[in-house]
Amino acid sequence: MPGFGTALVTGASSGIGAATARLLAAGGTHVLLHGRDRERLDALAAETGGTTLPADLADPEQRSRLAERLAAEELDLLVHNAGLGWAGPLPELPAERLTRLTAVNLTAPLELTRALLPTMLARGRGRIVFVTSIAGRTGVAGEAVYAATKAGLDAFAESLRFELHGTGIGVGVVVPGVVRTEFFTRRGKPYTRSTPRPVSAGRVANAVVRAAEKPGDYYVPRWLRVPVALRGVVPGAYRALATRFGAES
Ligand SMILES: NC(=O)c1ccc[n+]([C@@H]2O[C@H](COP(=O)([O-])OP(=O)(O)OC[C@H]3O[C@@H](n4cnc5c(N)ncnc54)[C@H](OP(=O)(O)O)[C@@H]3O)[C@@H](O)[C@H]2O)c1
Repeated sequence: MPGFGTALVTGASSGIGAATARLLAAGGTHVLLHGRDRERLDALAAETGGTTLPADLADPEQRSRLAERLAAEELDLLVHNAGLGWAGPLPELPAERLTRLTAVNLTAPLELTRALLPTMLARGRGRIVFVTSIAGRTGVAGEAVYAATKAGLDAFAESLRFELHGTGIGVGVVVPGVVRTEFFTRRGKPYTRSTPRPVSAGRVANAVVRAAEKPGDYYVPRWLRVPVALRGVVPGAYRALATRFGAES
């Protein structure tokens, strides 16, 4: 794997982000490690030779400070990975959690991308990779807001692809299904289904690096493209099947 110069990974303190940062560093990339947990970030920086960039993406001031910092960096790769979930009936979703979900999963990637693009455009090169979710492509009962944030991220990425055509900047999207990380404990509801079977964070990290090398859409596992295609072609049949087999996680 060739190195990417300098890469920022948001949410590098845990799960998919930590695995991605390790993989990038092993390939010779200087990693800027974002997250909130300073202890974990410091440990990962010691291991990878990276630089820590702590910031709470739910806090508008901390988001703007990080955006300003990025505007001044010559980044070769930005991996938008930080995110959180919540599962349950919509009326039970606390208002504060709804604000946090949209701020971290959607507003932050939009703001950070806007901040760093001028430098990437001036250099005529760069890669931006978004970690979205199968939830954003198919919809999931009990995760309507989470799914909406990820669908929004998908639409943003797709639009940027058109907007950045011919500029030397590539946009990749990684669409994971279920990944063995702290995500489920943190969302407050463990994953108990047998399908899709959870995959490792390392497997998703591999897809992130591939998406940076060769921008495109990467499903993890790959078969997840089948329900998405089915929904696109025969939405009624897809919904009937999903309802029967349980469209929730
Ligand atoms: N796990 C899955 O099954 C799955 C499936 C599809 C998509 N995804 C997506 O994959 C991405 C990574 O999730 P993961 O599975 O690796 O979960 P994770 O282990 O819980 O990691 C989440 C990361 O996001 C960061 N984060 C959360 N809230 C933040 C905030 N307010 N400000 C800054 N950073 C914040 C966390 O930082 P701190 O720990 O330092 O707070 C952590 O580094 C997320 O976008 C998630 O939606 C996950």
